[in-house]
Amino acid sequence: MKRPIVIGVTGGSGSGKTTVSRTIFEKFSDLSILLLEQDYYYKDQSHLPFEERLKTNYDHPFAFDNDRFISDLESLIAYKSIDQPVYDYAKHTRSDQTIHREPKEVIIVEGILILEDERLRELMDIKVYVDTDDDIRIIRRIKRDIEERGRTLDSVIQQYLSVVKPMHHQFVEPTKKFADIIIPEGGKNQVAIDLMTTKIASILSESNKA
Ligand code: C5P
Repeated sequence: MKRPIVIGVTGGSGSGKTTVSRTIFEKFSDLSILLLEQDYYYKDQSHLPFEERLKTNYDHPFAFDNDRFISDLESLIAYKSIDQPVYDYAKHTRSDQTIHREPKEVIIVEGILILEDERLRELMDIKVYVDTDDDIRIIRRIKRDIEERGRTLDSVIQQYLSVVKPMHHQFVEPTKKFADIIIPEGGKNQVAIDLMTTKIASILSESNKA
């Protein structure tokens, strides 16, 4: 059986990488396609008290359980199903549930630090970096974290200035050099999305001929 295509979509928090991933996902929704977010693989912190979990640096590579992420991705590439972990942003830890996911022909892997780990980069066929200015990203993040992740304005600003921004410049932004495609201003960049979907379609039709 032919190997699934793996597309990595990264960029800073609030860059629009989720919009890019979802747009590609919808373009191929008649095919078999799966979206795997790195956020699902934040480390389990249920053994720590809540106050300790609040102090965790969630923008550092150490925050992620990449061993499990990579092993799940390798299983999917080998056409084996996985039980994907579920993350709870309000509790700052993994939930006790999992979601059963079946392998698919196209896998989109999305997250802030997916290009930081060489083992992950090696599993990807196309690597995309969504490049969006810091001011746009913080505005989006404030809105999202208050509306969807149960945060206060003060906590979002404090976390952004003390952790998210410095970690972005130390770990996320430098991974741009590993990208095959850099998309300015994210999900609304129709030309870039069209170019990507054409490329994915051509890889799919080539592998169907093989
Ligand atoms: O969806 P997005 O790429 O923005 O998700 C990554 C962000 O989630 C990180 O920048 C991190 O600061 C944030 N995060 C958080 N609290 C957690 C886990 C992650 O604020 N418990």
